Amino acid sequence: TTKAVLLIGGPSKGTRFRPLSLDVPKPLFCVGGRPIIWHSLVALSHVQGLTEVLLIGFYDEAVINPFIKDASRDFPNLSIRYLREYQSLGTAGGLYHYRDVILKGNPSQIFVVHSDIVCGWPLEEMQKFHSGHRGVGTMMAVKVPKEEANKFGCVVIDPQTSQARHYVEKPEEFLSDTVNAGLYLFDSNLLFTSIRDAMDTKLKRSSDDPEATNDEQLRLEQDVLSPLAHTGKLYAYQTTSPWVQIKSAASAIPANALILASYKTTNPSLLRRRSPTILAKSRADYSKKKGPEIVEPCFIHEDAQIDDTAKIGPNVSIGSGVKVGFGSRIKESIILDNTVIDKNACVLYSIVGEECKIGPWARVEGAPLAGGQQQSIAILGKDVSVLKEVHIRSCIVLPSKVLSKSAKNEVLL
Ligand code: GDD
Ligand code: GTP
Repeated sequence: TTKAVLLIGGPSKGTRFRPLSLDVPKPLFCVGGRPIIWHSLVALSHVQGLTEVLLIGFYDEAVINPFIKDASRDFPNLSIRYLREYQSLGTAGGLYHYRDVILKGNPSQIFVVHSDIVCGWPLEEMQKFHSGHRGVGTMMAVKVPKEEANKFGCVVIDPQTSQARHYVEKPEEFLSDTVNAGLYLFDSNLLFTSIRDAMDTKLKRSSDDPEATNDEQLRLEQDVLSPLAHTGKLYAYQTTSPWVQIKSAASAIPANALILASYKTTNPSLLRRRSPTILAKSRADYSKKKGPEIVEPCFIHEDAQIDDTAKIGPNVSIGSGVKVGFGSRIKESIILDNTVIDKNACVLYSIVGEECKIGPWARVEGAPLAGGQQQSIAILGKDVSVLKEVHIRSCIVLPSKVLSKSAKNEVLL
């Protein structure tokens, strides 16, 4: 059998995701209408013989348990549990601490998944690839633009054998534009042997050198994978399918688009939209009513209210309780629960937090990704009001602000 571990981190993580991580932990932020990690559960639930998913992190139980409850209902074939680290133990420390729970039932293989990646989830392909070698583990690797590579773990792959010959976490100098994608498949017993070796090396280092920091963090990347690469026991499965890491809040926009695009082909029932007949019931003459203009793909929560004259999409996710008024236009954006978008307002390339109010004729916008440029988006924290006709362009706005003047390229505290 196979198990999966989702590394979800804790409250000190996700700082670059502010202000969106102020109200909800990053792994539970909704893209494509569902929490980020819900999408990885969809993929894992399709793996043959995989029945258990363990979330490991250091968030309070109270923060994670409601998600576990919902997910257990949505994925009845999976047993989903949360294992809490008493403090941040690092990407391998939590695995080590909970090794008995993870190894219970003798799973032969373990998927280890980061909680902030969105991709095509080639899990079956990875399993096939993994069974074709005798290494400890398979890392999914992906090519990124050269200038971006040093923000990731960089890997040099032997083109003949697919062995990861050299692995350096966030190197200072350019090593490779093929990087660790945050998804691994390990042989269970060999993984824990390697982690134990790494632990021993670390303990030995700190007993040799009294100056060394004796924290309890054990890092999967530096402490386990780098040495593994040097012994030839780490392999890399290179994927060419799209991949996004959700680090900055801005990356939620391409992640949202990727998820909506994948459900368009793999799971259309998730791309809900109100049917024109339901919308028309509020009108006297409903035989002629067509409903709002929707450019697919979009996720529109079934209890959102969208005026018939609005135009929405592509790549828009709209949460529960949202109201979109007469003549409004929304494109390439995420609108979170209970936000109200008034008549003729326009929201483009933006993330609008919960309970915001966008006034009539207001505009909230970022800019499309253009050749080599950073994506610019507008982000409104929870409970922000943008007053009538105000134009907010490429700004980050902290929660509960009332914006009565237009602004451009600013952080509004
Ligand atoms: N349980 C637990 N405990 N999880 C943790 C901890 C911890 O102490 N620290 C980080 N995580 C989780 C995060 O929530 C995330 O899912 C994952 O581990 C990796 O997070 P980071 O340690 O912040 O690394 P990163 O995202 O900057 O880079 C990692 O991911 C890239 C791919 O997305 C590295 O593995 C890179 O090499 C890789 O390219
Ligand atoms: P479509 O023609 O609607 O497919 O969009 P586009 O991609 O050609 O145009 P763009 O991305 O520039 O703008 C998106 C849409 O929002 C356009 O249709 C604009 O007419 C509309 N729009 C722009 N400003 C406003 C505004 O202030 N209010 C409203 N309601 N709509 C606006």
